[in-house]
Amino acid sequence: MPQITQVKVDPNNEDLDFIVSSWTYNPTKERIKERISRHLSEGKLFSMVYQNQLIGAVAYKEIDQNVSEITGIGISVKHRNQGFGRQLINIIEQEIPTKEILIETDNNAVNFYEHCEYKIYNTKTLDNGIIRYQLIKKKI
Ligand SMILES: CC(C)(COP(=O)(O)OP(=O)(O)OC[C@H]1O[C@@H](n2cnc3c(N)ncnc32)[C@H](O)[C@@H]1OP(=O)(O)O)[C@@H](O)C(=O)NCCC(=O)NCCS
Repeated sequence: MPQITQVKVDPNNEDLDFIVSSWTYNPTKERIKERISRHLSEGKLFSMVYQNQLIGAVAYKEIDQNVSEITGIGISVKHRNQGFGRQLINIIEQEIPTKEILIETDNNAVNFYEHCEYKIYNTKTLDNGIIRYQLIKKKI
């Protein structure tokens, strides 16, 4: 069973940088560092460790008392398609205190979220042609 723990301080961890790069637009070292500190200051960042290796991470922030947003999730390339992403999202949903959870993503991950029972409520096309999907899940 993987272990999921909250990252409380900037861990300066290259494995974490690599995972966060998977959800960072045009990732450079600076952008990844900036993204990690934003996750830590705006909300919470969790890492997933399996067999002593950091294999995944997820971040969320609370928007108000009813709504939170998952701001990034990633699993290391080697460990994808083995159920770790779903496990991570299930655990973080229990951690998130609000009833509604939002996610904004692109073509690469929209099906993953749909498999995890998120529903698309809006799509938008950016100036560069990329389609962004906004999804929601209401916890029971
Ligand atoms: C998206 C991501 C986190 C999924 O993690 P994962 O561990 O590979 O996913 P799982 O193995 O738990 O898959 C769960 C379900 O989603 C499906 N799925 C996973 N990735 C998918 C994809 N890219 N497209 C379509 N379906 C996908 C699986 O088939 C599985 O469905 P099933 O259980 O009904 O058979 C992982 O691919 C990743 O890190 N991607 C790069 C970062 C990224 O795009 N993050 C999201 C934007 S914030």
